[in-house]
Amino acid sequence: SDPGLVERARAAKAALGERVFVLGHHYQRDEVIEFADVTGDSFKLAREAAARPEAPYVVFCGVHFMAESADILTADHQRVVLPDLAAGCSMADMATFDQVEECWEVLEDAGIAGDVVPVTYMNSSADIKGFVGRHGGVVCTSSNARRALDWAYAKGSKVLFLPDQHLGRNTAVLEMGLGLDDCVVYSPHRPGGGLGERELRDARMILWRGHCSVHGRFSLDSVDDVRARVPGVNVLVHPECRHEVVTAADRVGSTEYIIKTLEAAPAGSAWAVGTELNLVRRLANAHPDKNVMFLDKTVCYCSTMNRIDLPHLVRSLESLADGRVVNQIRVDEETAHYARLALDQMLALP
Ligand code: 13P
Ligand code: SF4
Repeated sequence: SDPGLVERARAAKAALGERVFVLGHHYQRDEVIEFADVTGDSFKLAREAAARPEAPYVVFCGVHFMAESADILTADHQRVVLPDLAAGCSMADMATFDQVEECWEVLEDAGIAGDVVPVTYMNSSADIKGFVGRHGGVVCTSSNARRALDWAYAKGSKVLFLPDQHLGRNTAVLEMGLGLDDCVVYSPHRPGGGLGERELRDARMILWRGHCSVHGRFSLDSVDDVRARVPGVNVLVHPECRHEVVTAADRVGSTEYIIKTLEAAPAGSAWAVGTELNLVRRLANAHPDKNVMFLDKTVCYCSTMNRIDLPHLVRSLESLADGRVVNQIRVDEETAHYARLALDQMLALP
């Protein structure tokens, strides 16, 4: 990266000192990760967001829904900045508040809303988390989905899982022993979600039709292909991958789990990793004694994570050092109140 920009980022960060706390998700570019005080998966970052209440500025290097959660979980006086406001998430955009309200009405009309506990993946807007909090549900991430679902099924006989159908299905079927036929998919663009009342009444898991455009690109062919090319390879994937990919893989887990698994792997072992490319490249560099490769042949960055680059980070840090807060993420008080209930419930899971 541009040495002039690296120097400017260093200078601005040094000028801010303890007044700024920089969080970086594992999918961020190397040039950005270099300046993070803490790196993590979305669960770790949600916990860490509140770890430095004395810092007036929190710069979140990640995507919009993560910065919103940080705003909800930090103290009132703290300001959360997202270096590029265009860093959204296509999966989070697949569930809007109005669509989820409409879905709830469909469940009410089918007479089952009272049995349903809503669970939303962290990868959703603050509005959706607020909806879930208002209806007694919980937020989950890819590292605690099983525990969140255990909690939800202790409370009600059915779950509405938003917005990632793959994480919901993979957790329910592969970790909790539900059948594929216990799961139905609610399509927000079809009347009644495209489901009949009978299907809704029989279902135990109502999955929202949403997915991650990055992880959705891995296919069973990617797995078969790498196994044919690299004998003995271990296939390690994120649970946002499609069900058949996760079923065919050797290990599955969040970005933090993927990192720990590779740290513990013996020298000489081979790993095909199905997650975002910035992370896989960094892991390959960090483990030259292991053969770490990307699961697919086509390049697979998360384009919105990548929007946060060094020029954007420099702009954020320099404006803060100048006393100007640019690109602040703010969740309105009422939404934040209910979203916090669902987030706190997640943080309290055993
Ligand atoms: P985790 O951070 O939970 O591994 O999720 C990955 C992801 O897609 C974040 O957007
Ligand atoms: Fe969203 Fe997928 Fe990118 Fe994560 S990797 S921010 S889920 S599009």
